[in-house]
Amino acid sequence: MEAYLLDWLNILGRWVHFITGIAWIGASFYFIWLDNHLEAPRNPADAEKGVGGEVWSVHGGGFYHAQKYQVAPKVLPETLHWFKWEAYTTWLTGMFMLALIYWYGADVYLIDRSVADLSPTYAVGAAVLILFAGWIIYDLLCKSPLGENDAALGAVLFGLVTFLAWGLCELYSGRGAYIHFGAVLGTIMVANVFFVIIPGQRRMVEAAGRGELPDPADGIRAKQRSVHNTYFTLPVLFVMTSNHYAMTFAHEYNWLVLVAISLVGALIRIYFVARHKGKASPLPIVVAGLIIVAMVIAMAPKSRVRTSAALSLEDIRPVIEHRCVTCHSAEPTHIAFPAAPAGVKFDSEEQILAAADRIHQQTVVTRAMPIGNLTGISEEERLMIDAWYLGIAGSSND
Ligand code: HEC
Repeated sequence: MEAYLLDWLNILGRWVHFITGIAWIGASFYFIWLDNHLEAPRNPADAEKGVGGEVWSVHGGGFYHAQKYQVAPKVLPETLHWFKWEAYTTWLTGMFMLALIYWYGADVYLIDRSVADLSPTYAVGAAVLILFAGWIIYDLLCKSPLGENDAALGAVLFGLVTFLAWGLCELYSGRGAYIHFGAVLGTIMVANVFFVIIPGQRRMVEAAGRGELPDPADGIRAKQRSVHNTYFTLPVLFVMTSNHYAMTFAHEYNWLVLVAISLVGALIRIYFVARHKGKASPLPIVVAGLIIVAMVIAMAPKSRVRTSAALSLEDIRPVIEHRCVTCHSAEPTHIAFPAAPAGVKFDSEEQILAAADRIHQQTVVTRAMPIGNLTGISEEERLMIDAWYLGIAGSSND
């Protein structure tokens, strides 16, 4: 019953996280787009009022006319919309999911004893510390003299992100490492909104209310943080979808995959910003494409020829029985799983044969299964599955 209710919390949490995340990132993409498409106001009266740029658009059956003030309007409007709850609720629901799946379920999803033999307390404690440290180090760097040089700061941050990816992959299961990589970047993004961007805007609004000019430092700081946020967005979204793809997080060089994807995300972002401004060189997007192609080639599973004698289904049935069926059954006996995970069941020979490709992929190629190696499969048993699979794969190709 507990596992069943946890599943409900899981899917409801995911649903809300998704919705708030779309609202947040959608609005932030929209404002980046808006900023990059501003044209000088046509009506001289607008320019006199202090409007610096405007955009006309048509959407959902209506015409919209957005104007951006160079500093602030002379009189503040009665209703002023802020965009912050989208970010906060995305973080809150994200932390809820992280705690529920990866911390409460640390044994299954966070710890991989073949990577590091951690106790759940240690693993979760380290995760909380890493989340805090990520923000504190990042924030101190931005406030340090280095923060005045955007390019140098960017290079240092990229180095730190690389270190983070590597360090997490040395500590946790690939899947746990990936989600924490996303959580550290996501936490920095939301903390930027909470601690820097929104307080700065609040001071700007207060100054405008007093009829004073806002402190330009607030605007510069907010701009820097929101640029960082746009660079973090794409890798974070990649990480959030990657947990369905063991070929990424369970790869031998899983940390390098994260670094490459962060680079690809940054290049795509550079391209789109240039494109919005109407002077895009295709170079960044071409390089991003080449990096992806290189990854696809470099990570392709090696095709091998069978060297040992072919094994029959009878030979490997006990392996599946002992190492997989506790979870992958119509009636799982593992307490964490009320129903067969991913709907995959190995109760009958037909089910095993039908899933041969996936069994091989998960057990031998990516080694994502048994998850966290909770059932203690041995190297020898993995090789048995390999020999069985190569036998049937070979015969079906003849
Ligand atoms: C402790 C429970 C557990 C054990 C034991 C286990 N699995 Fe899984 N398995 C899971 C979970 C959880 C998922 C869903 C992963 C996800 O959310 O993507 C899964 C998913 C899968 C999938 C579907 C992945 C896909 O997307 O194609 C396959 C195939 C699979 N397991 C094979 C195996 C094999 C083969 C074994 C035994 C060698 C095994 N599993 C042992 C928990 C387990």
